[in-house]
Amino acid sequence: MSLDIARLRADTPGTADLIHFNNAGCALPPREVVDAMTDYLRLEMEIGGYETAARMKTRLDRPYSALAELLNAHADEIAILENATRAWDMAFYAVRMAPGDRVLTTRTEYCSNYIAFLQRARRDGIEIDVAPSLDNGDVDLAAFEKLIGPRTKLIAITHVATSGGLVNPAAAIGAIAKRANVPYLLDACQSVGQMAIDVEAIGCDMLSATARKFLRGPRGIGFLYVRRAILDRLDPPFLDDFAADWYADGDYRLRADARRFETPECSFAAKVGFGVALDYALALPMAEIETRVAALAAALRARLGDVPGVAIQDRGTRRCGIVTFTKTGIPAPAMKAMLAERKINVTVSVAEATRLDLIPRGIDKMIRASIHYYNTEDEIARFAEAVEAMALEHAR
Ligand SMILES: Cc1ncc(COP(=O)(O)O)c(C=O)c1O
Repeated sequence: MSLDIARLRADTPGTADLIHFNNAGCALPPREVVDAMTDYLRLEMEIGGYETAARMKTRLDRPYSALAELLNAHADEIAILENATRAWDMAFYAVRMAPGDRVLTTRTEYCSNYIAFLQRARRDGIEIDVAPSLDNGDVDLAAFEKLIGPRTKLIAITHVATSGGLVNPAAAIGAIAKRANVPYLLDACQSVGQMAIDVEAIGCDMLSATARKFLRGPRGIGFLYVRRAILDRLDPPFLDDFAADWYADGDYRLRADARRFETPECSFAAKVGFGVALDYALALPMAEIETRVAALAAALRARLGDVPGVAIQDRGTRRCGIVTFTKTGIPAPAMKAMLAERKINVTVSVAEATRLDLIPRGIDKMIRASIHYYNTEDEIARFAEAVEAMALEHAR
């Protein structure tokens, strides 16, 4: 099995007309994902929503078994939610913590997660420990481990930050969590789909991610993995009649599986589309995807590094498909707009997305160009030429 880039691009109509380097925002879905969703919606129109769900049960169940396969987990350890943030929230707010209990994270933690830490600090009196980074941006693992104490009730880190190519050492942190016997929540929103993720090898107890980024699924859908062994130690922040059974006036019992974190109503069409996207991903060699994406991103960094005034902002020993850079004299939003005129999609990463990392480095805004396997060396060259042309124009 190897990646047939021509076929993968033929399956992806969006690649015909533009250079899509916004895969960390939302990747281009394969045609069959969109077809499955539109077919589903059409059936809802023709026979009714509940009737469609009954007829399509196998396809609606597929995301659970497919995610189990992808992550080396079990289908009953998966919950599907409306996005990665809610998936992460359902896990985080389910961890019981008393005043003085501590959560341990890194400097590249995602903004929404950190805001949730702050909310529980203000409301519940928890304390937040942030492990320092080494000069190259890597988390200082020795310092990380030293920060664990008897009140550490959760380790919560982001695998790949939203604003940089750095890949945090998720498995090394898993080993630390195991040694300390502390539950471990991994935000894998930017890593699932661009690299192999094995929850056993990583050793995380909970993991959240989205469909729309490197898994190439639809928008409006995310998922949560919860290890069986930890399920009953968590107290879901919301319950309803899907998550629990109501026995008597004063008695309810949670359902047995991780779907206790779900709500029953959702976009059923998106769920079917997600199943198709997962099957598409499972049919491809993940190790090869990881190598290709990292190599294309490294080539882009090398090309951009030669452009006068461009500073690559990615740090860390291990880097993935996210490339961030600034260009002196051209604000990132202006560059994004100029690239869009050339049919090149990127996004602007802002300091608020990963404050603890970017503010001390004096970065306010930067361009984020994120690569997927369907991108090509030719697109890398054309992108670098476009940035070069802007730099020349600006210098005149
Ligand atoms: C690292 C990380 N975590 C979480 C999220 C939130 O994902 P969602 O928009 O699906 O809630 C993002 C979104 O960009 C992200 O980059």
